[in-house]
Amino acid sequence: MHGKADENRPLSTKAAVPDWYQAGLAHVWLPYAQMKTANPPLPVVRTSGNRIVLADGRELIDGIASWWTACHGYNHPHIRDAVEVQLQKLPHVMFGGLAHEQALTLARRLVALLPGGLDRVFFSESGSVSVEIAMKMAMQYWANRGVRGRTKFVAFKGGYHGDTTGAMAVCDLETGMHGAFAGYLPQNHIVDLPRGEAMTGALDNLLTREADAIAGMIVEPLVQGAGGMLFHDASVLRTLRRLADKHEVLLIFDEIFTGFGRAGTMFACEAADVVPDIVTLSKALTAGTLPLAATIARRPVFDAFWSDDPAHALMHGPTYMGNALACAAANASLDLFEREPRLQQVAAISAALTKDLEPCRAMPGVRDVRVRGAIGVVEMQRIEDLDGWRRRFIEEGVFVRPFGNVIYLTPPFTITADELACLTGAVRKVIASIGAKCDGT
Ligand SMILES: Cc1ncc(COP(=O)(O)O)c(C=O)c1O
Repeated sequence: MHGKADENRPLSTKAAVPDWYQAGLAHVWLPYAQMKTANPPLPVVRTSGNRIVLADGRELIDGIASWWTACHGYNHPHIRDAVEVQLQKLPHVMFGGLAHEQALTLARRLVALLPGGLDRVFFSESGSVSVEIAMKMAMQYWANRGVRGRTKFVAFKGGYHGDTTGAMAVCDLETGMHGAFAGYLPQNHIVDLPRGEAMTGALDNLLTREADAIAGMIVEPLVQGAGGMLFHDASVLRTLRRLADKHEVLLIFDEIFTGFGRAGTMFACEAADVVPDIVTLSKALTAGTLPLAATIARRPVFDAFWSDDPAHALMHGPTYMGNALACAAANASLDLFEREPRLQQVAAISAALTKDLEPCRAMPGVRDVRVRGAIGVVEMQRIEDLDGWRRRFIEEGVFVRPFGNVIYLTPPFTITADELACLTGAVRKVIASIGAKCDGT
């Protein structure tokens, strides 16, 4: 059960708190959390469909799909079966000197799905690492071609590309969460996205001046996720492609969030009809089951590494690269995209989010409401007590986690109309009850 009947129950009564939780909590360090003051995490004992089941028996409807991964909901039997079969046969072998069916099949299928020319897949195990690899590929692409000094990147305000060093260095350090490391990180150009003539002109000028030192530009196409769920038009991506070609810098699309239908099409680059030189994928790649990421390069990028000189090789190789269980999960997830009407479901979610979040626009404290694909966003003037908001959503029987000044929904694509109505209803209700405190005026 979710929702009202359980509304007044405390988050976890003593009896409902499992022993493992009591014994282990003091020994874990949680993500993006001030450990002293953050709400304690909720003990989860099971997932099922689009629900998260807590130790005290409550079920929360998931509004986030576990950081945008669980696109087919949880515990999908087709993915579970594929992973179980793989576990019996071959859970993992190193990818150096050995190859296996799941990874090679997945590489072939990803290439077939992506637009033309993106045809070499380098596997890794997290989004941030796939971004590091894309950046290494871009820098070494130039070095292998005998061009020295192209070691910087252009990235965009509002952007987020991960938490490792290179990835942090292409995040927006001013508005993002990695400002503390600014002094340590390599310096890149973090500029406005080319929206309109003035910003396009500014980027053109920057590239005219600096292209000799720039390896590539990196962008989250259509939606900048963790930087604030900010949207831009496909025309921005076409401008980036034009400027990248004009100034001969590589164009990297980070589709870790937008890939696999989240922004409305299978990949955001399709919506813009733009082919990047390198693309990064992760998150929904394994549908929220196992860690896996991929960095996929176009033929000319790969060709710069194809040489008789060992020094021209890409020196990267994560231990769990191409993990067979994760690749089996990803192949099973692609089967589901083929067999089930996922993109139609995304379109239906999009329509429902648009209709049911729109009333928030008139509520106190709300700055903007926007929807793209299966991403619904209500931006507040400001949110001061994030933990208080998060608690209120749990009281409503939904798992929704605002950050910065945005409340957002990115549900599994399998969410039912009733479940989605509970999510949007909870957003309206919580804003109506505490949104007025967010009015910045
Ligand atoms: C666009 C984008 N790039 C990179 C990352 C980093 O991925 P990971 O958390 O798997 O390292 C994220 C994670 O939210 C992301 O949204």
